[in-house]
Amino acid sequence: MSFSPIQKYRPFPSIDLPNRQWPARVLTQAPIWCSVDLRDGNQALAVPMNVSQKLEMFEALVKCGFKEIEVGFPSASNTEFSFNRRLIEDGRIPDDVTIQCLVQAREDLIEKTVQSLMGARSVIIHLYNSTSPAQRRYVFGMEKADIVKVAVRGAQWIKDRIKRLEDSGTKVMLQYSPESFSATEVEFAKEVSEAVMDVWQPTPERKMILNLPDTVEVAGPNVYADQIEWMCRNIKNRESLIISLHTHNDRGTGTAATEMGMLAGADRVEGTLFGNGERTGNLDVVQVAMNLYMHGIDPKLDFSDLNALREVYERCTGMTVPPRHPYSGELVFTAFSGSHQDAIKKGLAAYEGHQGAWDVPYLTIDPQDIGREYREVIRVNSQSGKGGVAYLLESEFGIELPKELQREFGPIANDAVDALGREVSAAELKAMFWKEYIERNQPYELKHFHADGTTGVFRCRASLYENGREIQVTGEGNGPIAAFVQAMVSHGVPTFEVANYREQSLGSGSEASALSFIQVKRADGKMCWGAGVDTNIELASIKAVLSAVNRTT
Ligand code: KIV
Ligand code: ZN
Repeated sequence: MSFSPIQKYRPFPSIDLPNRQWPARVLTQAPIWCSVDLRDGNQALAVPMNVSQKLEMFEALVKCGFKEIEVGFPSASNTEFSFNRRLIEDGRIPDDVTIQCLVQAREDLIEKTVQSLMGARSVIIHLYNSTSPAQRRYVFGMEKADIVKVAVRGAQWIKDRIKRLEDSGTKVMLQYSPESFSATEVEFAKEVSEAVMDVWQPTPERKMILNLPDTVEVAGPNVYADQIEWMCRNIKNRESLIISLHTHNDRGTGTAATEMGMLAGADRVEGTLFGNGERTGNLDVVQVAMNLYMHGIDPKLDFSDLNALREVYERCTGMTVPPRHPYSGELVFTAFSGSHQDAIKKGLAAYEGHQGAWDVPYLTIDPQDIGREYREVIRVNSQSGKGGVAYLLESEFGIELPKELQREFGPIANDAVDALGREVSAAELKAMFWKEYIERNQPYELKHFHADGTTGVFRCRASLYENGREIQVTGEGNGPIAAFVQAMVSHGVPTFEVANYREQSLGSGSEASALSFIQVKRADGKMCWGAGVDTNIELASIKAVLSAVNRTT
């Protein structure tokens, strides 16, 4: 029998966790955040950031409110080492920010890391070694006991050097990561972590960070949550530990794994802006923070100008944020579909000026909270309906189309957009409206109009061009519009009456003009809208009548 490709794979063993608690819990507060943009994120770039890019990114991270920032792997390259020195010697680290550095369990590398941190106010030294069966077997060729020894030796080398840092005034926190934790047997992850704890001797007053990475997502987010809850329940001296999550996104569930891991008892979350990181990336911190925010939980990170942050990120890393990326992508608050636009438009109108709970269909949060504008929300292409067209004309130009006119113009605009085969701007829509209604001057175009009268009887005289030839018409009615309708009918236009009339002003001050909308009804019952613009309101209405007549003829 042939071996099919799927036979290469096996189900992931489940975690024995009777009475698991995390599924019933609810998140109520933000975790301690740690940005790993400058280390894990940077390590994943084809062209790593140079010192000035790292400095710009560091400042952006500080501005967002990160209090713990993994600034690099100083023993790995001169750039990383000099970056630490630059931060410390130039006094660029705010007093409430702690820098973190990653190091392997090797004495020379640990020494170099400590040297790179001398003079800093507050640091986290982050030791890691890999613990999963595949890493033990294929990468290190070591048994479990040897892996424990590597971790313990590294922990001891760090412990031996802490005094030097502390004596020079540096506050030191220690962090251990059993790398590839999620692919490691939980019992062994506990064993190796407890061996490190034996060396570092954390206490509730002086905790250490135990970071439990989902180095490669090998199972569903619920399995990671089980692993975290298992560790929280079974590890000794839990109260002396800050349990930290560090997820990657290989199965596309890094965010879910982090959120479930938080429910499972973690205190701290490591991740990057927009999910930059090895392979499919690290956890996108923006997503978890904004998910908390949308439930009314203060995320303790400020993403109120996400566009500016995205620009810094793109400039420094050379990466781009995809348009559908949650919260930060260009299109994530945009509706092209007519029914979505209609619902958003109604929801926004109901919300306007209201301080209550956000409840706008299709918009998880108010886009303005992260520096996005409502004008980006509704965009028009061939999928859009009258609602989107009307919304753009109103929000961009203050043109408030009467509902029935929206129904008439919507399909006209839609056909034009369909023919173009692309998205159209508000200015293009306005031009379409002008072409269809305002500039509709064949066969009739107004040259001059005059009306006067009192007590309900008005007489009018108008000069028009009919197919380019000048004509005069006169009529009588209970107002200037009625008199003009009568004049046109007397001239031979099929009988019609005004069924609807609306006017509005466009612009203000000396630039102001009037925009009139008139719907006419012919004797055969056919209804048609017209529109006219003029600085004189009476002339705007007369032009609107002619626009409607021209459109029915
Ligand atoms: O993904 C990972 O496991 C890491 C560790 C070094 C924490 O980045
Ligand atoms: Zn990582």
